[in-house]
Amino acid sequence: MDFNKVQELVSQHGTPILFLSESRIKESYRTLNSALPGVSLYYAVKSNATREIISILDSEGSFFDVCSNGEIDVLTSCGIKADRCIHTHPIKRDSDIRYALEYGIQIFVADNEDELLKMVPYKDKLKVLIRMSIQNPGCLVNLSHKFGVAPEKTFDLIRKAHDMGLKIAGISFHAGSQNESSLKYIEALEYCRDICRRAALRGIDIEIIDIGGGFPIDYLTQVLPMASFCQPINEYLERYFTSYRLIAEPGRVLSGRSMTLAAKVIGKSMRNGVWWYYLDEGVYGSFSGKIYDHAEYPMFVARDGDGQRHNSVLAGPTCDSIDVLYENISLPLLEIGDLVVFDSMGAYTCASASNFNGFPKAKILVVE
Ligand SMILES: Cc1ncc(COP(=O)(O)O)c(C=O)c1O
Repeated sequence: MDFNKVQELVSQHGTPILFLSESRIKESYRTLNSALPGVSLYYAVKSNATREIISILDSEGSFFDVCSNGEIDVLTSCGIKADRCIHTHPIKRDSDIRYALEYGIQIFVADNEDELLKMVPYKDKLKVLIRMSIQNPGCLVNLSHKFGVAPEKTFDLIRKAHDMGLKIAGISFHAGSQNESSLKYIEALEYCRDICRRAALRGIDIEIIDIGGGFPIDYLTQVLPMASFCQPINEYLERYFTSYRLIAEPGRVLSGRSMTLAAKVIGKSMRNGVWWYYLDEGVYGSFSGKIYDHAEYPMFVARDGDGQRHNSVLAGPTCDSIDVLYENISLPLLEIGDLVVFDSMGAYTCASASNFNGFPKAKILVVE
């Protein structure tokens, strides 16, 4: 976003503020949609549940992936019909299942027998996606640490679900968030092939292959263009999965680039020879992604200061010592009131922000 435009909007609306770019969301959706032809995109609402994002994606024809009653409420308030949604939380209370069923969702996820048992009373109303784990400790967030049945046990769980009288929707996996390459997707699809073959031999119908999320965006380093990233996945799907319904649950790649944060320096202090700058936004706000998502965002400052760079620290506004954003960074001399702008702040940022210490969350302003 152009710095002058940011300054102009900040003078009208104040800081901290997240600028939500409608065109970036549309562009991200269209790019992924054409990079994955034949795969229906279910936006992972958890990455950013801002209603404007949901509505923009709705207008693009997106489907939606929800995990909680709260996320269902957001979709309801945006007028999204349940037949365009799946519920992907592997652990649910009975009341959660009923809430989602009342809304009209029909596809649910499970990765263990106890969860399957919870679904048996509703077996005429729902179908089950069995979530397989794909370990990927190397990526930003390994989403199989907490959920997913081991690949070699996935077929057994499908068979158990079938024996309980549940309808099987198919297999899902999450290859880890912010993948550098599509290798883990191919590994997962290889397991899926074997599981589908075994299911067919037992007369169990597998309808859906859900390749999850995990598609990367540029933060401080450049990632592969989406078409190149997805090419091996497409080739594999075209070769082995043409007779299945293919879906994905992208979060970061759709919401990540959509928001730019403007924060202001509200205080400065020289401490042990290092300049400390205190911003009006920190880890309890939109920078919660630094803690939970381990993301590092591109940063811009407008000032040239004294023409030199100084060892500096950027901290958030709360009284907590954990609320430090960057240490040992080289910055021009900043003044109180200066703007600091951060890009690619749309995924897992405001979604996990809090009002800790009485500081309000950054406001969100749709631009364009
Ligand atoms: C079940 C599930 N699907 C999709 C996503 C979205 O992943 P990403 O933002 O990496 O695309 C997540 C992220 O936590 C998830 O847990």
